[in-house]
Amino acid sequence: MNQKLSKWAVQMSDRSARVVSGAVSSMASGAVIGAVATAFALSLSLAAGSAMAKDIELPGDTMLWRQSTMPGYQATLQNCSSCHSAHYAEYQPPNSGRAYWQATVVKMQKAFKAPISDADIPLIVDYLTATYGENRK
Ligand code: HEC
Repeated sequence: MNQKLSKWAVQMSDRSARVVSGAVSSMASGAVIGAVATAFALSLSLAAGSAMAKDIELPGDTMLWRQSTMPGYQATLQNCSSCHSAHYAEYQPPNSGRAYWQATVVKMQKAFKAPISDADIPLIVDYLTATYGENRK
C-alpha cells in the first residue's frame, strides 16, 4: 500500500470514526481501507438520508385569509400575515363569539408583540367573527 494513501486512509478513518463509532480507529491498518470504504459509504448514505429529510413536505402554513369586502379583511391581511397564515383562524371553534376574537387579537398584540394599532382591532374582530366565528355564513 502506498504510504501517502494509507496516511490519508487513517485520517479519513479517524474522521469517519466519529460518524460510525470508536471501533474504526482501533482496527488493524490492513482493514483500514475497507473500513474507510464502509464508513464513507455509510456517511454518504447518512448525508443522503438527511437530504431526503429536508425534502419531506410538512403541511404548508400557507392558508389564505378568506376574502371579504369588510374593511377588517384588509386590516387582517396587513396585521396578521407576517407571522402565520390563516390556519390558526380556521381551526378555532366555529361558534366563537366576538369576545373570543377580541381576546385573540389582543393576545397577538400584547403577548406576541404584533404591531396592531388599537384603531384596527374592532375592524379585525368584526371580520374574524363574521368569517371564522359564530357570525359566519
Ligand atoms: C408577531 C407575530 C404574530 C402576528 C402578527 C399575529 N400572530 Fe397570531 N399567533 C402568533 C403566535 C406566536 C401564536 C401561537 C402559536 C402557538 O401557540 O403555537 C399565534 C396564534 C394565533 C391563533 C391561535 C389561537 C391562539 O390564541 O393561540 C390565532 C387564531 C391567531 N394567532 C390569529 C391572529 C390574528 C387574527 C392576527 C392579526 C390580528 C395574528 N394572529 C397576528 C403570532 C402572531
